[in-house]
Amino acid sequence: MTIAIVTGAARGIGAATAKRLATDGHAVAVLDLDEAAATATADAITAAGGLAVAIVADISDARSVQAAVDRVVAELGAPRILVNNAGVLRDNLLFKMTEDDWDTVMSVHLRGAFLMTRAVQAHMVDAGWGRIVNLSSTSALGNRGQANYAAAKAGIQGFTKTLAFELGRYGITANAIAPGFIQTDMTKGTAQRLGVSFEDLVHAQVSQIPVARAGVPDDIAAAVSFFCREEAGFVSGQVLYVAGGPKS
Ligand SMILES: NC(=O)c1ccc[n+]([C@@H]2O[C@H](COP(=O)([O-])OP(=O)(O)OC[C@H]3O[C@@H](n4cnc5c(N)ncnc54)[C@H](O)[C@@H]3O)[C@@H](O)[C@H]2O)c1
Repeated sequence: MTIAIVTGAARGIGAATAKRLATDGHAVAVLDLDEAAATATADAITAAGGLAVAIVADISDARSVQAAVDRVVAELGAPRILVNNAGVLRDNLLFKMTEDDWDTVMSVHLRGAFLMTRAVQAHMVDAGWGRIVNLSSTSALGNRGQANYAAAKAGIQGFTKTLAFELGRYGITANAIAPGFIQTDMTKGTAQRLGVSFEDLVHAQVSQIPVARAGVPDDIAAAVSFFCREEAGFVSGQVLYVAGGPKS
């Protein structure tokens, strides 16, 4: 059984990904800041016949990350799949964006992905096999009100391609998924910030999406599942836009 770590797996895209990887036959560490929700996700996997543990960690903190990875090794075994999914938004127009808004987004997305990958890669190198999937976004192409998030999500793409170069010789692939508009608590928060109903936000987004529907977490989980397969071993350093069209 392959051991997978999914960060930010308490809810949304991360929870759907953890459940999908468990269905694919992997043991899953459900890593998140939110203990209660992470436990609920792990319990749902266990109830469905899978193997999962909930682990509380702050991915932007090096000590917390190392302790979490050590716990995964002790409780499940050495991880060979890592999905860097945890994320936060601190949207604002540039002239109103605070240094804290900038630093928080960089810390969770970029520093978090770096710390997690650095802590896990040694186990993958030892095994001579690994799969790393990083969550980027269509916002990497630029998005009003998201100077911090767009920079972080573009950074994730460069990070991913560099991992592909450095780790390929050890049987490790690294790919990124760039979702478009996905219905989760994160996008519900966006509606709240904009002062519109979630239904109105979904409607406005769908009018711009070629397949004429909003994305759901399972759409992203399916793409993660593909990158983690044995047969995807010749696919590395790629960015897959999962956005219902070329871009949302
Ligand atoms: N929802 C979308 O439309 C969309 C689009 C493109 C990209 N994404 C990306 O997909 C990923 C998941 O998005 P989502 O919509 O499911 O978000 P979400 O807000 O619903 O869930 C994010 C999870 O990450 C956890 N988290 C946040 N900071 C953390 C930290 N420091 N340490 C550990 N866990 C932490 C949260 O507790 C939460 O459970 C994010 O990286 C997001 O940027 C989402």
